[in-house]
Amino acid sequence: MPIDSARLEELQIVRKIRETVRRWWGIELSFTDAKGFVLDHGKGIIIPPQNRICTACLGDPEGLRRCNQSIESAVARLNGSGTRLLGPCHMGLEIVGAPIEFGGERQGSLFACGFLVNEKAQAARGPAMFETAELKLPVVEPATAFESIQPIEAREVPRLLDLMDTTVEEIDAWHGAVALREKRIRDLQNELGGRYRFADLIGKSEPMQRLYALLDKLVASDVTVLIHGENGTGKELIARALHFNGARKQKQFVAQNCSALNDHLLESELFGHLKGSFTGATRDKPGLFKVADGGTFFLDEVADLSPAMQVKLLRVLQEGTFVPVGGTRPEKVDVRIIAASNKDLHEAVVRREFREDLFYRLHVVALEVPPLRERLDDLPILVDHFLDAYAHRSGKRRKQLHPELFAGFYDWHWPGNVRELQNEIERLAVLAGDAEVIPPELSAQRAGGRAPGSATQLAALVQRGLGSDLATAVCALEKEIIETGLRETRNNKSRLAERLGVSRTTLIKKIRDYGLSE
Ligand SMILES: Nc1ncnc2c1ncn2[C@@H]1O[C@H](COP(=O)(O)OP(=O)(O)OP(=O)(O)O)[C@@H](O)[C@H]1O
Ligand SMILES: [Mg+2]
Repeated sequence: MPIDSARLEELQIVRKIRETVRRWWGIELSFTDAKGFVLDHGKGIIIPPQNRICTACLGDPEGLRRCNQSIESAVARLNGSGTRLLGPCHMGLEIVGAPIEFGGERQGSLFACGFLVNEKAQAARGPAMFETAELKLPVVEPATAFESIQPIEAREVPRLLDLMDTTVEEIDAWHGAVALREKRIRDLQNELGGRYRFADLIGKSEPMQRLYALLDKLVASDVTVLIHGENGTGKELIARALHFNGARKQKQFVAQNCSALNDHLLESELFGHLKGSFTGATRDKPGLFKVADGGTFFLDEVADLSPAMQVKLLRVLQEGTFVPVGGTRPEKVDVRIIAASNKDLHEAVVRREFREDLFYRLHVVALEVPPLRERLDDLPILVDHFLDAYAHRSGKRRKQLHPELFAGFYDWHWPGNVRELQNEIERLAVLAGDAEVIPPELSAQRAGGRAPGSATQLAALVQRGLGSDLATAVCALEKEIIETGLRETRNNKSRLAERLGVSRTTLIKKIRDYGLSE
């Protein structure tokens, strides 16, 4: 904590000693920072010692510069010997200083200047001072100016030093007390609030605290991690946090969604291929495992790997080797594997859709990411975070949610988890235009409530004026249900059609009619 003269001056003891020194000897106590810059001068506050020489000198730009220079080099001479006289300033007047140190480091100093000690006064006497200084100061009469300097009796000097020592001791004690108090506040905050983030992950609820504690242990190791959680809970964010906070952060983090490509493409994507290995393979292409060498490979939707690809992945995990498409020689890589799935991989093993040996290789450490509805305590902090992010990105003023709108968030079951919340905040912020408080009316389209399709919800839709008649409101509700269903099934139309009890063709037609893009 650097010294702050404004705070120091508020200290009773500093005020008192300052007054005493001013009254007895007509001099000012001031502070410098660690580099020796006069704190008050830096703020444009110039209080000269009560004599004409210092007054004239500090009123002149060149005089002020030289005064500061004198003090800077004088306090630089302060060392372990504590408070002492530091020799003359550029005008031949005395400077006395005391170092201020906290935690074994110089934080600044306390000093006084612009006086003479009796016997030295003789030596420096007279207009000679002005000549040596070569300053053109608007002083009428050098001799009378000199008369205005109050000499301090030599026997009084130890008293001045004593007073300065006491001041520094008080500052030291005060600093110790403040540091202790601040530490206490920090400790209390930690005890009360816990951590509210780990890398880019936001949340301070119990389940998130448990997750952070586990992540703390995992960043330092190379173990394979299997992350399980619903859509939008932050699985990829966790994988990134593990990589970018660990020893591999200088190397690549590569993510591949295993359900996005067919086997043939996925194999060539992961392991690379040799020129001519298939039509269109016009040159050698390194696979993503090669790219991730030394880094981390994030295998998303790992439950969707075909049996053939499961075997190949097992080999990477067991031996650290793979064979590029069209190649014969295995290549070796050193990658940390983090896999994620929103399906229960153990169940897939039981159903014989997933190899047991691969499951155990991936499952060295399993991380369960809690869905948002089980940690609604995190809503305020997440909402704040996304509102901040929107304000930052859009360059607009930071908005707030109307309390009624925010209260409704606690009633929703957030099937799309944090991603859904993020999209919702973005949508609300855009629709709110220039309004600083996002009004509750905007929640209308979000068909709030825990049970989509309930009668109350339908009534609410009609009431909120989504449509002027029942037919329009029913359409709006149908659209909402399909939209949510698509998100929940990750656009699996056959599954959604089955769930909604309509044919796939009907569903596709409705998706088109409502303009719901994938
Ligand atoms: N705890 C969190 N704090 C801040 N942002 C989060 C958090 N969890 C998720 N997000 C945000 O939500 C979005 C979805 O996160 P992410 O892609 O990591 O989820 P996911 O579990 O991989 O989802 P999916 O299963 O759909 O692939 C991202 O934009 C991410 O930044
Ligand atoms: Mg993901």
